[in-house]
Amino acid sequence: MRSKLVAGNWKMNGNLASNQALLKSLIPLLASVTRARCAVCVPYPYLAQTEQILRGQGISWGAQDVCEYEHGAYTGSVSAGMVADFGCRFAIVGHSERRALFGDTDAVVAKKFAAVLKVGLTPILCVGETLAERESGVMEQVIARQVDAVIAQSGAAALGQAVLAYEPVWAIGTGKTATPEQAQAVHAFIRGRVAEQDIRVADGLPILYGGSVKASNAAQLFAMADIDGGLIGGASLVAEEFAAICKAL
Ligand code: PGA
Repeated sequence: MRSKLVAGNWKMNGNLASNQALLKSLIPLLASVTRARCAVCVPYPYLAQTEQILRGQGISWGAQDVCEYEHGAYTGSVSAGMVADFGCRFAIVGHSERRALFGDTDAVVAKKFAAVLKVGLTPILCVGETLAERESGVMEQVIARQVDAVIAQSGAAALGQAVLAYEPVWAIGTGKTATPEQAQAVHAFIRGRVAEQDIRVADGLPILYGGSVKASNAAQLFAMADIDGGLIGGASLVAEEFAAICKAL
């Protein structure tokens, strides 16, 4: 069976006081979740705080991005090795906000993916189409291009150490969730695309859905055959809501 994961993506939210309250509330709420892994991806400055609070508590943590380079004169950037120093298990790469707002191309995302793997962490590779791309009928082309760039850089076998997240851009932070059937169709497409390269890797690849997942719609999404969990933005900032989503998985 594929492993199951719910990962929170806090984005650029939180401070020392609010993080402490959120993380401390999550610990008892998630204690009963044993069949799925739960994780929070926090802003870089709070990785140390998160490690200190979550270590040994059965909840994983990670970063929301990494630099594609290992070290050197890259002012303001943070490497995969640096986040690994804080006990991270995961690092998100290719989130649509990084692609759209910070210019991460498919090639850069592929390098970031490789950088995360190199330090032994699990990349959570985000892919997804905009509304315009969906409506103009190029959705599958866009997603295939995003997945293929990573395979071209790292090889299909590398996906055996990764998690994918399908996040339709039009569903992120909009309150508009893809229907379970819409999401399932794309998840099956992604798995099929990977299977063309490596069936075994495709079968074992956890594919998360992200985009306005809430406690009220999580169970229907997670019931679909190719949906192995969720990447949760807004709802991951509320302990009870995030815990309910983890329990739904
Ligand atoms: P959302 O964000 O749950 O707030 O829509 C999801 C994401 O961006 O990962």
